[in-house]
Amino acid sequence: MIKVSNLTKEFLQGQEKTQVLKGVDLNIKEGEFVAIMGPSGSGKSTLLQLLGGLDVPTKGDIQIAHKFLNKMKEKERTIFRRKKLGFVFQNYQLLPTLTVEENIAFPLHADGKLTNEKSKLIHELIHSVGLEGLNRKRANLLSGGQQQRVAIARALVNNPTVLLADEPTGNLDRARAEEILVLLSRFHHEKKQTIVMVTHDIFAAGFADRIILFRDGIIDQVISRKDSDYATYLANFMA
Ligand SMILES: Nc1ncnc2c1ncn2[C@@H]1O[C@H](COP(=O)(O)OP(=O)(O)OP(=O)(O)O)[C@@H](O)[C@H]1O
Ligand SMILES: [Mg+2]
Repeated sequence: MIKVSNLTKEFLQGQEKTQVLKGVDLNIKEGEFVAIMGPSGSGKSTLLQLLGGLDVPTKGDIQIAHKFLNKMKEKERTIFRRKKLGFVFQNYQLLPTLTVEENIAFPLHADGKLTNEKSKLIHELIHSVGLEGLNRKRANLLSGGQQQRVAIARALVNNPTVLLADEPTGNLDRARAEEILVLLSRFHHEKKQTIVMVTHDIFAAGFADRIILFRDGIIDQVISRKDSDYATYLANFMA
C-alpha cells in the first residue's frame, strides 16, 4: 500500500542545509495500523507531510497504492490527496463556525453538490463516531474529544486509501484519548482502514500493529505486535 524508499528531506535555513530525513525505507501493508514514535525533531511530522503529499522530498520515492507521489505534478498531487488521503491533526483543524455535518461534508464539496447518497454517508459517519444529535452544532462549541471525532469523520468521508494522523490524541486527556484510539482501532478492524499515526504516547502506540521508532531522521527500531517480545517492549517503554 505504501512504499517509501531512500526518502530524504533537506530544509534550507538561510545558507545552512539540514537533513531531516536521511534515507528512510518503509513499507506499510494494506489494512495495517502503524504508529510512528521518536524524540521531538526526529522527523516524524516531516515524514507524514511527505506521505500526505503536503510537501515534496529532496530525494527518494513515495508510492501509495502504486502511484509515485514524488513524480506527480502539484495539481495531480492535490487531487490525489483530496481523493485518496485523510488527515487528522493534533489541533483538529475544523472550521469553527461551521456545524458538525458541514465540517464533515467539507471535503466533498470539491466534487460538486451533496447528493442524497453523500448526505446519508455523512449521517452514518456521525453515528459511527458517536456524535448523534450534534449534526447542527457549531464546531467551536464542542469539546476537544468531540472535535477530534468530527475531524476523524471528515478524514474518512472520502473513504481514503490511507488515514494519516499526527498526534491525534496529543491535546486530549487519557480518557478522551482512549476513546479516540478505540474509534481508530474500530475503523482499522472493521473497515480494514490503513492508518499511519504519529504519537508521543506509548499507550496510543500500543493500539497499532507495528511501532516504528525514529531517531534523528532514520528508522531506529521496528517492533511488531507479532514479535514475541512486544509486550515486554511496551512494558519497558511505559516503566
Ligand atoms: N518547513 C521547515 N523548514 C525548516 N525546518 C523544518 C521545517 N519543517 C521541519 N523542520 C525541521 O525538521 C526537524 C524535524 O521536524 P519534525 O516536525 O518532522 O519533527 P517531529 O519528529 O515531528 O517533532 P515533534 O515530536 O516535536 O512534533 C526539526 O528540526 C524542524 O525544525
Ligand atoms: Mg511532529
